[in-house]
Amino acid sequence: MDKIVIKGGKKLKGEVLISGAKNAVLPIMAAALLADGTSEIQNIPSLRDVVTMVRLLRFLGARVNHAGPTIEIQSNNHLKSIAPYNLVSTMRASVCVLGPLLGRLGYVELSLPGGCIIGSRPIDLHLKGLETLGAEITIEHGYVKARAKRGLRGADVYLGGSYGSSVLATANVMMAAVLARGTTRIESAACEPELVDLAEFLIKMGAKISGHGSHLIEIQGVDRLHGISHSIIPDRIEAGTFMVAGAMNRGSDVLVRNCVPEHSHALLDKLRQAGIIINKTKDSIRIRRNGLLRPTDVTTLPYPSFPTDLQAQMMALMAVTPGISVITEKIYPDRFIHVSELNRMGSKIFLEGSSAIVHGVKHLSGAPVMASDLRASAALVLAGLVAEGVTEVHRVYHLDRGYERIEEKLSALGASIKREKEKN
Ligand code: EPU
Repeated sequence: MDKIVIKGGKKLKGEVLISGAKNAVLPIMAAALLADGTSEIQNIPSLRDVVTMVRLLRFLGARVNHAGPTIEIQSNNHLKSIAPYNLVSTMRASVCVLGPLLGRLGYVELSLPGGCIIGSRPIDLHLKGLETLGAEITIEHGYVKARAKRGLRGADVYLGGSYGSSVLATANVMMAAVLARGTTRIESAACEPELVDLAEFLIKMGAKISGHGSHLIEIQGVDRLHGISHSIIPDRIEAGTFMVAGAMNRGSDVLVRNCVPEHSHALLDKLRQAGIIINKTKDSIRIRRNGLLRPTDVTTLPYPSFPTDLQAQMMALMAVTPGISVITEKIYPDRFIHVSELNRMGSKIFLEGSSAIVHGVKHLSGAPVMASDLRASAALVLAGLVAEGVTEVHRVYHLDRGYERIEEKLSALGASIKREKEKN
């Protein structure tokens, strides 16, 4: 197992190139199962989750050729309809094959993904949506079994939840509906950029979709879809993580390239409030920090509001911001596992229900810390960039799920950071 070792205090200077979006590529790879023929997907990030999805698609019977930043997926009518526990349990996004397999084969068995460290993550909305399209669903022995005996038929599907909309439930219903008979309207749909990328991919394949990017998506079912070529959008969460990295140390000047600035409005707004100087072009954002930071308040909500996937990273910044900042987590009220690790580095963060009250401290001090989930790991790395002394982030396989070579990219910006093998 690897660990990341960081010596804090270095200013970051230079350019960083953002990779393809993890949360776009995973559903898009699953969507390739819907086509007759081969789809070529480009700008694939080199991530552990992508490797897991390749393994799952191969298990299901697709032919997958993964070479660097390109993946070819050849699908056919003889796919298996079972997504087993050992593959689904290692990655929740495996749930993305539910909609495509049901749409294509009329039957699917998927191991229930269960909860995870960031909190309870039910799939009731996925199932409700598919039932509305005519699937009969039972849950037996830890598996969801969904069957559409006479095929799926278009319907009005309401996907609202108490927190807003569900990203992957919207993806699953959209992918199931593209081959259903008639028209489907998804109301209270999620409108994250990754879903827009998925819709664009499906449209290129021959699907009839409109309204994606809004809360009302309309889909007219078609008989078949064909293979195509598509390039994945840049990862707004990776971009955001590097923007926060550029804000951690006074004197840093980081150009985040190959990103889509309008996907990061909520974060940029908060960074500006915190005193960071920001310049944008069509596909890059320059982050400069000169003076002291100012405290801010953040509430995580569905896009276009502040993303939960940047909450932990923002907390690392608030930890060294003079004054009191508050983060309220509305998507995953328990997603605060990083708080105790940050406090081990000297931060003063107090939890009150689904809010974290962050009393900024002058210095963090490097310490051995444990990564617990993907974004929490990124927050610990960011804290390490500003901490006095050495920070060792253990269990970095979480980080490798969603960040491509983060230590190399940070090192190229001037950070003192390296990956080492754990000594047993
Ligand atoms: N929810 C339900 N029922 C459902 C589905 C969701 O109650 O059937 C609730 C969840 O418990 C949560 C909220 O809805 O409170 C939002 O969950 P959502 O379904 O939107 O999350 P997801 O689609 O499973 C994706 C990302 C997550 C990201 C969330 C929110 C992928 C592969 N994953 O998950 O990414 O946090 O949307 O934006 O796209 C990450 O990248 O680190 C990550 C966790």
